Amino acid sequence: MMLFFILLGTALSVTGAGCDEVVVEAGSLAVLPCVTGSPTPLSVQWVKTNGRKQNTVWRIEQNGLEFRGVERAHRAWCPHGEFRKGIFNLHIERVTAGDGGEYICTSTRTRTEVQKHTLRVIQVSFAPPAPVEGSSVKVTCNVTPWPQEATVSWKLNGSPLSPQQAGSTTNIKERQIKSMSPREMGDWTCTIGLSKKEGEATQYLSMRGISRPREMTKVYGAVGSSVVLPCMYTEGLTPQNTGWQRKLSGAESFKALPPTLQPASPSSRPQWDRSLRVERVAVGDDGTYRCFGEVEGRRLQRQMLLVTAQVRSTSPVKPNAPVTLACELSDDTQVTGYEWVQVTYDSNGTRRVTPKHQTKTLTIPKMTEEHSGEWACRYRGKEGILGNVTYHFQVMSHLEGDKVERSSGKVAMIIGLCFLIMVLLVIVLQVYKNRRRRKMILQYPALETIVHTTSNAREGRERERMREKAQAHQTHI
Ligand SMILES: *[C@@H]1O[C@H](CO)[C@@H](O)[C@H](O)[C@H]1NC(C)=O
Ligand SMILES: *[C@@H]1O[C@H](CO)[C@@H](O)[C@H](O)[C@H]1NC(C)=O
Repeated sequence: MMLFFILLGTALSVTGAGCDEVVVEAGSLAVLPCVTGSPTPLSVQWVKTNGRKQNTVWRIEQNGLEFRGVERAHRAWCPHGEFRKGIFNLHIERVTAGDGGEYICTSTRTRTEVQKHTLRVIQVSFAPPAPVEGSSVKVTCNVTPWPQEATVSWKLNGSPLSPQQAGSTTNIKERQIKSMSPREMGDWTCTIGLSKKEGEATQYLSMRGISRPREMTKVYGAVGSSVVLPCMYTEGLTPQNTGWQRKLSGAESFKALPPTLQPASPSSRPQWDRSLRVERVAVGDDGTYRCFGEVEGRRLQRQMLLVTAQVRSTSPVKPNAPVTLACELSDDTQVTGYEWVQVTYDSNGTRRVTPKHQTKTLTIPKMTEEHSGEWACRYRGKEGILGNVTYHFQVMSHLEGDKVERSSGKVAMIIGLCFLIMVLLVIVLQVYKNRRRRKMILQYPALETIVHTTSNAREGRERERMREKAQAHQTHI
């Protein structure tokens, strides 16, 4: 280094002091040019002036010794590689508003000002830094030092402010947002126009409130399937007194949800997720849903429209008969097109979707096996597919016939079985009865004999009497 400066040697030619504006965004790198015009400076010094006071920022001595001012010791320096070309550009890293001001580069031996710059630091700030939805916010564009004449223009997320977003203004630097909403969230860019230069700074404005959905939205749910109505607060928030209400299509006012439609218990999800999951969308569920809650005493809410979708067939699906299916949505104002697709599965279970018709209604002239299985109606909006609703064709000719035969066969079998059981029962009963009787006879043999003898005797007497009667009759004749 020493050698370098000795070589550089003799006189410093001065290019004359110019004053330049350098406009830089806070936090970035500022480069203040200082070109001595000759690769032979004896020593060079950068000072920051503040009225009459001058603070040395950086200095290099003839012997190559380098000094750095205390204030910016770690952030301000001149890159060595450029000294040989006579360039002593001052680099200031991570610029702050306090760095703004006038900087002079001089050759210390000749005391000649080589270059003079005004460093202006632009910064966008918000007060409060993360406002609650609905509260007022002040957006400020600060330039340090503030230029005599300057124009200020604003952009939000890259586009000029809409009248809604612009808010009111009391002075050129500020914008006052009366009621913070998701519309004002995003990158605020302030562009400062000076006479010759322009500079800009950007800062992200966040919001504490309901981050999703940002505004009234439509949620599409197929009848019979589940759907989630989103209600996400800013991460980390714990909203109070949260809940849901709905106003079904045709109803006059919002009502509490039925018990079957309650949001999942908060323990299973983060505090800031208050979304509502409808497990099975029913035909009459379409309407406006409202999620509400409180953040720091401010009542917030979002509304969304649940649009139900279903497939209706105009007539019962019969084999070999024509079939017409209509894809019906409770609200189709956002729908720009429909598409019917057939869903098939190959032997590996891989799902394949084959687009068939770009229409709202699907007409199949003749219902055959190749049409059986799963179909889906997809509905599209400007930004892509909004959703789909599926339909299953299960009826097949031979299958249906088989079913009927099989079921009638079953009935016959059951009847036959019953009959058989009854017959068996009767037989068993008869056998049992007979056995019982035989047992009884064995138990009382004497009684049986007595009965027999008495009855035999009686019969004998009867016969005797009859015979006598007959003989008497004959004698009479
Ligand atoms: C099924 O998987 C096997 C093995 O992974 C593969 O060789 C075959 O091509 C697949 N068949 C189809 C219809 O995708
Ligand atoms: C229908 O929508 C569901 C959920 O978004 C998706 O998983 C499925 O692939 C879609 N089906 C078709 C046929 O597009």
